Amino acid sequence: MTASPDLRVQVAPGLKLINPVIAASGAYGYGDDLEEMADVQKLGAVICKGTTLHPRDGNPQPRIIEVTAGILNSVGLQNIGVEALIREKAPEWAKWSVPVIVNIAGDSIDEYAAVASKLEGVAGISGIEVNISCPNVKQGGMQFGTSPAAAAEVTHAVKSATKLPVIVKLSPNVTDISAIAQAVEKAGADSISLINTISGMAIDIRKREPKLGNIKGGLSGPAIKPVALWMVYQVCGCVKIPVIGCGGIMSAEDALEFIMAGATAVEVGTANLIDPNAILDIIDGLGRLLSAGNISQISDLRGAARK
Ligand SMILES: Cc1cc2nc3c(=O)[nH]c(=O)nc-3n(C[C@H](O)[C@H](O)[C@H](O)COP(=O)(O)O)c2cc1C
Repeated sequence: MTASPDLRVQVAPGLKLINPVIAASGAYGYGDDLEEMADVQKLGAVICKGTTLHPRDGNPQPRIIEVTAGILNSVGLQNIGVEALIREKAPEWAKWSVPVIVNIAGDSIDEYAAVASKLEGVAGISGIEVNISCPNVKQGGMQFGTSPAAAAEVTHAVKSATKLPVIVKLSPNVTDISAIAQAVEKAGADSISLINTISGMAIDIRKREPKLGNIKGGLSGPAIKPVALWMVYQVCGCVKIPVIGCGGIMSAEDALEFIMAGATAVEVGTANLIDPNAILDIIDGLGRLLSAGNISQISDLRGAARK
């Protein structure tokens, strides 16, 4: 086959990507670091750091530690706040051809809705990803993403506040991921991404204390890939909207596993902290894998491994 394979995908109404590989929230800041290190315009999309209504400092240090086959982070929601993002970051993004999706967070339904409505109509912003792995401060601190009702309520509030495509990012720290996925689909989500990090901790046995300043953190990287893949497989089997797979993707082969499980696209996070060129290598690798298998378009492989 001579023509290069068609890697284009559509992850939500009005959100078409040149390839299915997206920079995951938190591992690329606001995409500007990436601009210096790699050719950001070659990515499918960039998702920026979780953004709240007001600037936040995040959690106490240490906030990132290495564990077996992954990292634990407790960065928290350190960010510049939505007003500064609109003023300082969006004008730069408006010059890019790669779509930028803003990951939003909050500690109340009202905060999510307020952030979403501020982003409406801002040049340079192509979509919203809703991080529902945040504690609901008014409801005793339980994560929005751990209850189908709360997850649906956030989704509905964000959808009502914006015309931008809305991707809802699920937390893996739940008993029944399918119930959450179906609830957010019913509440109007345009697509679903999963998984966020898995709760975990590490202890320094010499000091006899937790290694993270925040005690608990989120596990990411290769250690979580089988868990993420199984959750993506389950969700792809129970919703009709597009699913974006994420969790431990380090290579084009890993990305293809998620696509064969039924995902339309993938997000890559921790790989970037290890090698800033990893995400571009994954895109190139996907093209090579398709060519080698004589496959003309990536969408032909979506769900190919489903039973
Ligand atoms: C340092 C760091 C910060 C993160 N910050 C966010 C965030 O602000 N919002 C969010 O939804 N996910 C955040 N994540 C989760 C990632 O986007 C991704 O879901 C997770 O790390 C699993 O993918 P990976 O194994 O490819 O990193 C963060 C992850 C890391 C490692």
